[in-house]
Amino acid sequence: MCGIVGYVGEQQAAPILLDGLGKLEYRGYDSAGIAVYDGENIEMKKSKGRLKVLNELTHDGETLPGTIGIGHTRWATHGEPSDVNAHPHFNEDRSIVVVHNGIIENYLKLKNKLIRKGYQFISDTDTEVVAHLLDYYYDGNPLRTITKIMHRMEGSYALGIMFKEHPDELYAVRKDSPLIVGHTKGGCVIASDVPAVLRYTRDVYFIENEEIVRMTKESMEFFSVDEEPIEKQSTHIEWDVDAAEKGGYEHFMLKEMYEQPKAITDTFSPRIKKNDVVIEELGMTDEDIKGIGKIMIVACGSAYHAGVTGKYVLEGMARIPVEVDVASEYRYRNPLIEDGTLVVIISQSGETADSLAALRMSKEKGAGVLGIVNVVGSSIAREADNVMYTWAGPEIAVATTKAYSCQLIAMYLLAMKFAKVRGTITDGELKEYIEDLKRIPDQVELLLNNKLRVQKFANRYLAARDVFFIGRGVDYAISMEGSLKLKEISYIHSEAYAAGELKHGTISLVEDGTLVLAVLTQEDLYKKMISNMVEVRTRGAFVMAVTNEGNDEVERAADYVIYIPETNRYFTNSLAIIPLQLFGYYIAVGKGCDVDKPRNLAKSVTVE
Ligand code: M6R
Repeated sequence: MCGIVGYVGEQQAAPILLDGLGKLEYRGYDSAGIAVYDGENIEMKKSKGRLKVLNELTHDGETLPGTIGIGHTRWATHGEPSDVNAHPHFNEDRSIVVVHNGIIENYLKLKNKLIRKGYQFISDTDTEVVAHLLDYYYDGNPLRTITKIMHRMEGSYALGIMFKEHPDELYAVRKDSPLIVGHTKGGCVIASDVPAVLRYTRDVYFIENEEIVRMTKESMEFFSVDEEPIEKQSTHIEWDVDAAEKGGYEHFMLKEMYEQPKAITDTFSPRIKKNDVVIEELGMTDEDIKGIGKIMIVACGSAYHAGVTGKYVLEGMARIPVEVDVASEYRYRNPLIEDGTLVVIISQSGETADSLAALRMSKEKGAGVLGIVNVVGSSIAREADNVMYTWAGPEIAVATTKAYSCQLIAMYLLAMKFAKVRGTITDGELKEYIEDLKRIPDQVELLLNNKLRVQKFANRYLAARDVFFIGRGVDYAISMEGSLKLKEISYIHSEAYAAGELKHGTISLVEDGTLVLAVLTQEDLYKKMISNMVEVRTRGAFVMAVTNEGNDEVERAADYVIYIPETNRYFTNSLAIIPLQLFGYYIAVGKGCDVDKPRNLAKSVTVE
């Protein structure tokens, strides 16, 4: 959601800015722009639409010479997507220029005040307020000016700023929006996210709330809002550059689906020691684990769906009561958090605004918070009491696949660990679960290699208008995720239902040709599911089933069946999701949709 880049150094800035913005495309955007300073003037180019337009406008950066600059991909919040609303934004005499990620919540109040002082605005954005506010307080000292506006702005921001009077200095500051900086050979870079800087450095500094950075081609200095210098440690990023490139695949989403076997292995293998589950980073003794009275899982979107699976698995295996909540609801409902509650926040990006707010509120209420996060050093990872990383590597496609699969694995590992310590499973059962876990990567591979069968089916349904996903137990959890995968990238309306709920209203929508995807992997619920499938089929639905090998009885109630290999009842989601991901993907491809960058969506939802 909005991407920021910046560069100061010995090289030409524009090509580096454009390259960085390209790496941030996945975050979602509707316009883009760059501003480059050649020592005389700050020149700017910006435009609505894809980066391709900006590349053409600037002849791949050639028309904007200069060795210091800032760039931005905008995801509209205040004001429609347009050339004029695109960032960067200038003050009136074009001596200060900013790019911004976040929302200035009191921008109207500030704007009215500035208008009363004679400032004229040309855009509808909250960001232009920042440029004029900097101008208003500017006293020749950029650092002091920035701290002054920080005291006046409410909301969230990551800013890249240049001052004409300081041609060698690039400034960056953040509050509640992600920002990283790093040294390159002969310069410094700033960005919203790691993939934009990987080509230039692996050692990055995560800027904390209300920290300011002053960069020149030789130096990088950090300051607090009181202008006090700060010492910071860099974080080494292990991801390799290729991991953030498409590597011959047509889409990032397809590549990332194929990376699932490795990502899953990377996530569980460091935590399996002989026949035991060892999660050192949990920071919990056996006594602490025995003392857990309740687990609250809080997350958004697919991460929330992983949490729903977690509820079934943790309650089933470890017999601990689990509540799952979407973060945007949880943070405003004043939840009851008793002693002994463990709050688990799941997030791929570690920057989702609602999840971060939920984390902070939980800590204020005295709960211990465990983060399950993919991006190392992200806000949720830093602010949680303990963090268990999912090792999926960089995920670029907006629709999550491999990070979600790793979140499922994290849920299983927690359940196994807690169950073992609390004595709700035997050593023998744990050993069997570990064996099943180790088989998942190969089983996922097998299902991925069977993609043509799913593709063939998907091609028949490109014109579908409504699709229902149904399941019971963990299969209901995976139905939610399957339905989200389909709708977010193919724009086909789709709903997930607990199969037993159909009769309470939704079945009235089923008519001739309605597509229903039924997931049935829970042996004790086969019969119930088959009855539900028969019910929709007799009302004209076409039913595709995803079920376990050997459940031949399903054939009498389904028109098309995808079988998944054998595993235990808790781990089936890791296998059933593969045909559902492929189904969503191939429908979107067949419809000619922009699979990796679906409309209106952002990879990292850093504003409410
Ligand atoms: O980065 P997070 O895991 O916190 O993101 C949460 C959701 O925004 C995310 O899972 C979203 O639903 C995905 N685009 C779904 O594919």
